[in-house]
Amino acid sequence: MSKAPKIRAAELRSLIEKYNYAYHVLDQPEITDFQFDQLFNELLDLESKYPELQSADSPTQRAGGPPLDKFEKVEHRQPMLSLQNAYSTDDILAFDERLKKALERDDDIAYACSPKLDGLALELIYEDGLLVGGLTRGDGRVGEDVLSNVKTISSIPLRLSSSKPPKLFEVRGEALMYKEDFRRLNETNDELGGQIFANPRNAAAGTLRQLDSKIAASRPLHFIAYGPGVLEGIAPKTQQQFESILAENSLPHLPMMGSIKDMKELTALAKKGKLPRFPALGFLAKNADEAKAYYEFINDIRGQLPFDIDGVVIKVNDWSLQDQLGFIARSPRWATAAKFQPEQAETEIEDIICQVGRTGALTPVAVMKPVKVGGVTITNATLHNQDEIDRKDVRIGDHVIVQRAGDVIPEVVEVVLDKRPNSAKPYLLPTHCPVCSEPVQKLDEEVKSRCVNPICPAILKNSLQHFVSRRAMNVDKVGDKLIDLLVDEGLVKTFSDLYRLNQETLLALPRMGEKSVTNILESLEASKHPSLARFIYALGIRFVGEQTAQTLADHFKSIDALKTADEDTLKDIEDIGPKVASSIVRAFKNQAFIKEISDLEAQGLQYQKGIVIPESEQKLKGLNIVVTGTLPKGREEVKQMITLAGGKSAGSVSKKTDYLLAGEAAGSKAEKAEKLGVKVINWDQFLELLN
Ligand code: IVH
Repeated sequence: MSKAPKIRAAELRSLIEKYNYAYHVLDQPEITDFQFDQLFNELLDLESKYPELQSADSPTQRAGGPPLDKFEKVEHRQPMLSLQNAYSTDDILAFDERLKKALERDDDIAYACSPKLDGLALELIYEDGLLVGGLTRGDGRVGEDVLSNVKTISSIPLRLSSSKPPKLFEVRGEALMYKEDFRRLNETNDELGGQIFANPRNAAAGTLRQLDSKIAASRPLHFIAYGPGVLEGIAPKTQQQFESILAENSLPHLPMMGSIKDMKELTALAKKGKLPRFPALGFLAKNADEAKAYYEFINDIRGQLPFDIDGVVIKVNDWSLQDQLGFIARSPRWATAAKFQPEQAETEIEDIICQVGRTGALTPVAVMKPVKVGGVTITNATLHNQDEIDRKDVRIGDHVIVQRAGDVIPEVVEVVLDKRPNSAKPYLLPTHCPVCSEPVQKLDEEVKSRCVNPICPAILKNSLQHFVSRRAMNVDKVGDKLIDLLVDEGLVKTFSDLYRLNQETLLALPRMGEKSVTNILESLEASKHPSLARFIYALGIRFVGEQTAQTLADHFKSIDALKTADEDTLKDIEDIGPKVASSIVRAFKNQAFIKEISDLEAQGLQYQKGIVIPESEQKLKGLNIVVTGTLPKGREEVKQMITLAGGKSAGSVSKKTDYLLAGEAAGSKAEKAEKLGVKVINWDQFLELLN
């Protein structure tokens, strides 16, 4: 074999892992998804052409392999223990007192503090820098080897990045799913009739114990390291030093804050709802008082963290002191888990109201005396549906236990019957829609009642919000408030009405300036060339989420073909079940819906017909290209070429523009591009980008 492919493969691997780290660990992407995919595909090609180039640490391994029958059981070199629990700041001080006594010293002990992550414990084993094992905790002594799934976790390096990696490096941490990803996963699974998880922890556990690593690869798991297993060839002396070794090796962990002052700043930001997504969350406390302050700090901000936590872990920083302290039973004496109060609280129901969602579903909501649950004040909790209200026998005036689980909507767990006042009033869902007063219906087998009036303002507002959302038509300048206003003023009754808005009508709205009006109209204009999949998704057909929309677009290639498909044809498509099929057929039987689609087209909306480019082959994915001047093809056609290839085409040049495609007589846009340092390309260069 010539040397070049080997060198190129190594180069690609290191580049891919570098960008992967920037994206998944630092949360600071350095290249576009499109550029990333190109590198990745080049490596895949090389590895399939030269199988001898395949290796255990290649990023291509992250895609998952063939399903397993079962996981192998493997004994931990060193047992994975648990922690003693503390429940208050007093317990933290008592812990410190105990340690001082055991060590026979009065001077301060320094503690490495970190959030107690609520996922599941995972041990990674690196031998000579290569990831060779991934074990669950199991019973502490023997765990399961879930390496095939571990490799699919993008933030876990397949090879340590230090140039002289230790002979053996066992690192322990928590596998978890971010709250946002969890919500999205449940949403998608709900749509597709898949598994619904109770909380991010269960979702993470279910994913890590998947026998089919391709499924694991499709789910967004993360890993955050917090401690060592057996180490050979390195000997850190403190937890802080150990953490710098994690950092040197690109292992994701929660870095330490600079000083106690950072806590005050972060708390202030959190109060304003502006906590950065990944602030440094670890802390080296000089003494128990500082550890106590840390516990209170994390408790205050926990609701805003991207992942669930259930306390803080406080560890003696100095490993020689750890050795002196040793273990009691199955826990180290040198660490404690200071837990937060569970995310449940008692409060009183003042009223029960009924909300109407995008699909017309009626949801009863308890309005309660404000109560703090897990650091967040809540006033509303969902009661799901009438059956749930009846089952729990919830009445207005009742004292109830409410709970937040992960980031899901708070819910009423149970009624405190002892405290039920005589005046407590049972609740029945209305028989008429609380928004439009039309009678509601309960379709067979459904637990929810629905308003079925398609022009009900509640449904309309929600449908419009969905229509303009980022993953649908992506009209970023039309937000929820504007939609409320437009519907309330009677200016918008359908999707196509959005495109009928003009400067005059918008300017007449309260607090609306010329600049915002221009922005709104431009963003509507820029949204007129969606992919077919986005367009189908935007229409908001029940049970048709993003994935289903993509499947339908790939299969039918046009709305006209989809329109006439019958249930059997639809059911024959992989991933489309009877529920989804019948919902699609029902939607296209509705004349108003059909008319709306042609009205949208009449407003200049052109989804791509005929050709569909799968996302992985979209050459302009993520790129923002503004078009100006006279080109060999019409402006609209060029814009469509851009959107077809996954790009976006705004009306004006800004800092976000990647390229200005300039034809003859380009004018002011070209000047602006030059000023902003935006690259100007001509037609030939544009065609090159596309190929
Ligand atoms: S240190 C001897 N640090 O809590 C164990 N554990 O009850 C030392 N956990 O199984 C563990 N976040 O899965 C440590 N920042 C953190 C942690 C953490 C979560 C979990 C871990 C362990 C359990 C101990």
